[in-house]
Amino acid sequence: MLTDAHHRIIDYVRLSVTDRCNLRCTYCMPENMHFVQRKALLTDDEILRLLQTLAAAGISKIRITGGEPFLRPGLMALLEKIKAIPGIREIAITTNGVLTQAYIPALQQLGITHINLSLDTLQADRFLQITRRNRFTAVMDTLQSLLQHNMQVKINAVVMENVNTDELNAFTALTRDNALSVRFIEEMPFNGQGHTFSGIVWNYHKILSTIGENYTLQKIVDAPHSTSLNYHIPGHKGNIGVIPAYSRTFCGTCNRLRISATGSMKTCLYGNDVLNVKEMMRDELQQHLLLPAIQSAIHARFANGFEAEQHHTEKNMESMSVIGG
Ligand code: GTP
Ligand code: 5AD
Ligand code: SF4
Repeated sequence: MLTDAHHRIIDYVRLSVTDRCNLRCTYCMPENMHFVQRKALLTDDEILRLLQTLAAAGISKIRITGGEPFLRPGLMALLEKIKAIPGIREIAITTNGVLTQAYIPALQQLGITHINLSLDTLQADRFLQITRRNRFTAVMDTLQSLLQHNMQVKINAVVMENVNTDELNAFTALTRDNALSVRFIEEMPFNGQGHTFSGIVWNYHKILSTIGENYTLQKIVDAPHSTSLNYHIPGHKGNIGVIPAYSRTFCGTCNRLRISATGSMKTCLYGNDVLNVKEMMRDELQQHLLLPAIQSAIHARFANGFEAEQHHTEKNMESMSVIGG
């Protein structure tokens, strides 16, 4: 069991499988984003060895993130091998949906049914403005297909002042006839200088009170390590949630470890990289020290994101596609 000094059990790993992306969301990265060379990425073998080590130490949930995970060549074969690791109870994926549709039947066959889909607007022209790419139709087709296949879908919508706040009701309306969750996310500063982060205007209170003007929101008892505060709306098949990602109200129960595509480990989204697992795995003299090194990094974890932030000087320069969300 991996535990930190604040008695939190770490059983969930967010693993970025690529920093590359086929969109350029302004809140995530600049147009001319620099991506790392493929040889700098963890190989499939390294990922499997790492996850075997972590699973033997008590990690049971893996969330695959990016960049855009489906840009990694051979992702499905890798997922199949991850699935076979003893102790891995759940694999989930966060995707932008551009390439995802074609993989839905294969994902379902593997038992991967939890898909978080990034989608910040329901309008094609605005999609282009936010993502700088004209792929709205592909993403909406993926959404339809996920629902037809009865996948457990959570839409992630980053709420941005002067961009999409007029769509809170349209997103909420989606939950009336569709058994999905729409989660509104507070914007965070990790945009790789894609644009200036002006601090949080639309915090979760404001998002909830705005939706509450038109809908009756009934609080749901959230899952133990949920990042979102979730609400049922009478008569709706789905539900809505808010993720106080910037307010960071959920640090007290945080059960996550993050591994970037190049093997950098973070014990807090707002913290520094604390270890490079790739370098350790590629060094014969250090390989056997991997688990102890991970354990001691976890032990040194900060109690909350505010505390981590004080030790973290470059967060506005970082892109979410490198961290993996
Ligand atoms: P599940 O709980 O596994 O469904 O996923 P999730 O909601 O954590 O994952 P997802 O990849 O869909 O991320 C949704 C948003 O929550 C993203 O904007 C993440 O960056 C943010 N988020 C996820 N984990 C943390 C965290 O530990 N701290 C903060 N502040 N934000 C987080
Ligand atoms: N603020 C909030 N959420 C972000 N994401 C990416 N960048 C940011 C940001 N600056 C979200 C994406 C995706 C998830 C992994 O992180 O929309 O759904
Ligand atoms: Fe790509 Fe996701 Fe970043 Fe958008 S938020 S540019 S989809 S990695």
